[in-house]
Amino acid sequence: MMERPPQTVAHIGGIAAHVGREVTLRGWLQNRRSSGRIHFLTVRDGTGSIQAVMSKAAVGDDIFRQADHLGQESAISIRGQVRADARAPGGYEVDVAHLELVGASQDYPITPKEHGVEYLLDHRHLWLRTERQQAILRIRHEVIDAVRTFFNSRGFVLVDTPILTPAACEGTTTLFPVPYFDTATAFLTQSGQLYNEANAMALGRVYCFGPTFRAEKSKTRRHLTEFWMVEPEMAYAALDDVMALAEDLVVAVITRVLDTRRPELAVLQRDAAPLERVRAPFPRVSYDEAVDILQARGLEFQWGGDFGSPDETALAEHFDQPVIVHRFPAAAKAFYMKADPERPEASLSVDVLAPEGYGEIVGGGQREDDYDVLRERVRAHDLPEEAFSWYLDLRRYGSVPHGGFGMGIERVVAWICGLQHVREAVPYPRMLHRLTP
Ligand code: 4AD
Ligand code: MG
Repeated sequence: MMERPPQTVAHIGGIAAHVGREVTLRGWLQNRRSSGRIHFLTVRDGTGSIQAVMSKAAVGDDIFRQADHLGQESAISIRGQVRADARAPGGYEVDVAHLELVGASQDYPITPKEHGVEYLLDHRHLWLRTERQQAILRIRHEVIDAVRTFFNSRGFVLVDTPILTPAACEGTTTLFPVPYFDTATAFLTQSGQLYNEANAMALGRVYCFGPTFRAEKSKTRRHLTEFWMVEPEMAYAALDDVMALAEDLVVAVITRVLDTRRPELAVLQRDAAPLERVRAPFPRVSYDEAVDILQARGLEFQWGGDFGSPDETALAEHFDQPVIVHRFPAAAKAFYMKADPERPEASLSVDVLAPEGYGEIVGGGQREDDYDVLRERVRAHDLPEEAFSWYLDLRRYGSVPHGGFGMGIERVVAWICGLQHVREAVPYPRMLHRLTP
């Protein structure tokens, strides 16, 4: 008797290397069409999908009949020969010699028909299996990897900042309180920035990268209550350094996705042209100039406030590029922003706005580094001074000009993928009315 060669387990993503050979594929049944004596099974395994052709003659009556009843998303293992076929969607097919049912699935809730978005969000744990959601998650993965590579290769040190914090960073109205044993209330972090500043005084250039929380009651397509933010902070740095770093980061991330994730962008039917246009230097305008542009375009924007979504969209349309807006009114920004020495009602702050209506993706600036001025700001913002005493210490012991920014990962992913809403840019979105699954 001839000995069977050992099974080769292959991944669909790398199937090209197995043409002409018999392999085992382990995955899930995405779709099935049958025509009497042949089943066409679309099998996916997380790395891709492929058509598997099963004839009664090749597998025998029992397996063939079993395949008649396989429901969508049944977990199956198939063995068969790989064939190149120019007409097949991915360029390859498998001729099935054997099929094993690993885990049955009947009446799968997400069918190829259209479902409403609330229904899909209720089934997010299953929705992730669709090709489109997989493409988004792969791009998200690439964005995160590009961000890490960018900072690591420039000598920034990753220093983790706490998630349970004693005080507000971005503003007291959007804090999530958490009971902290019997005696205290902690808050989920809004930003690692204040700790980043301490860490930068220790290590020079640092970044943190983690989940951040905002109890925002806004129901816009740009807001989540839990989102991921990467935040670099640099000692001995001014506003110009912060702007240059943000610009380089955005370019690096876009370049990486264009280099490595074209197939996923194609799945999403994302027109890559606007991304290909992203090049440094980005247009830079002061807040004052931005207000003039908005008013010239007919928006009723008054000097003094932060931009709303329509304002950001209009500005980005005006430039058709990411645009850097700097020196917002101090009153519109957080307490830690350094006042512009040339013009104290303005702050050394910066936002980067993405094109195509995606709005603010980066927010940051130069920090107030003077002890007395900062203490005054803490008081003026009605913040508890005791909770900020450690932060004020940084201005007592070797204070230096410094700054940094935060970039929201979901906003960037939504922009790159061309999504309607940031909720698809995170595996399990948390929003005003959604905490499940
Ligand atoms: O502009 P923000 O609030 O800045 C800070 O938190 C600073 N402390 C960061 C720093 O300087 N280290 O937030 C930064 C970015 C925004 O530009 C946006 O991309 C994202 O975080 N972001 C949100 N993303 C999704 N949902 C929300 N509710 C968001 N709020 C901010
Ligand atoms: Mg902001």
